[in-house]
Amino acid sequence: MSSPNVTLKAKLCTMPVDLRSDTVTRPGAAMLDAMMHAKVGDDVFEEDPTVNRLEAFAAEMFGREASLYCPSGTMSNQIAIKCHTHPGDEVICEKSSHVYLYEGGGIAFNAAAQVRLIDGDRGRMRAEQIVHAINPDDVHKPRTSLVCLENTANRGGGSCYRVQDILQIKSACDQAGLALHLDGARLFNALIANGETPEQYGQMFDTISICLNKGLGCPIGSLLIGNRKFIRQARRIRKVFGGGMRQAGFMAASGLYALQHNIKRLELDHIHARQIAMALKQKSFVGSILPVDTNIIIFEVLEPYTAKTLTDKFAQFHIKCIAISPTQVRMVTHLDINEQMVKEVISCIESL
Ligand SMILES: Cc1ncc(COP(=O)(O)O)c(C=O)c1O
Repeated sequence: MSSPNVTLKAKLCTMPVDLRSDTVTRPGAAMLDAMMHAKVGDDVFEEDPTVNRLEAFAAEMFGREASLYCPSGTMSNQIAIKCHTHPGDEVICEKSSHVYLYEGGGIAFNAAAQVRLIDGDRGRMRAEQIVHAINPDDVHKPRTSLVCLENTANRGGGSCYRVQDILQIKSACDQAGLALHLDGARLFNALIANGETPEQYGQMFDTISICLNKGLGCPIGSLLIGNRKFIRQARRIRKVFGGGMRQAGFMAASGLYALQHNIKRLELDHIHARQIAMALKQKSFVGSILPVDTNIIIFEVLEPYTAKTLTDKFAQFHIKCIAISPTQVRMVTHLDINEQMVKEVISCIESL
């Protein structure tokens, strides 16, 4: 525990700073205005003009035929996994991937498939690891049918794949007849960090899920992108999952706004994350920090704190962050974190 002196010296943020996740953003005036003025219809009848525009916009952005608007990234991923597999199949994914750790066992529950976990590097797998994990055609073994990548990788501290590594994975999947899905909940962070384009990704993956409700600042929403035939099947599964929405255009308008206005600015979130990480690096209670490639900071907590007591301490100073393990804390920058807040967070860290 910290000493009382430390508590007295530390600097309080003058406003709440929520660094728990980039999902905590609230729509600003311009996004709300777009939502209020959206033209809507019944999207289960495929008659909502704003949803249709959003789906066409996203598909075109990635150079693909179609996309499907879903309420959440989890649903997009789960629909993709369900459509790519049959019961009893095996899905290759990294051991800390969202589809495995944080989707409520959905791969088993929704698709009746099982996972083959790979011990990757900060959430990233290599082609040779995947090749090694593919089962031979043998009645004893589950049929390997799908590989899921995550870019950026959340538990990897927002780490990014290199395009050449994905190309090798794609080639391995093509050779073995496996589908390749990307959990791209934070793909735009990776694109901005590495100067890549959505089209490059559209060419490498069979399907991509992107989230609108994270760095892009929408209240809800995700898009599953792929070819027309796949998206038709996905639309059916979305209905089965209870994700068929009616006048969803009010929400889809936020997605269109976000894709048109909120991508480039992600660079600012990355700068803010690096600035906060620099301040953390100076502190004796901070151990190793994962490289800050995008908007996520994950660091080891050392004595006198534990991850829990440090997050409690930050909370006293109006800074919210998350203990993701007994010894690790995560901070995430986003649209609702401005320069002034970052300065105050840094002052607070320095004063602790
Ligand atoms: C990498 C990743 N994939 C998928 C999701 C799921 O998104 P949602 O919260 O919209 O279900 C998240 C959510 O944090 C995530 O971090």
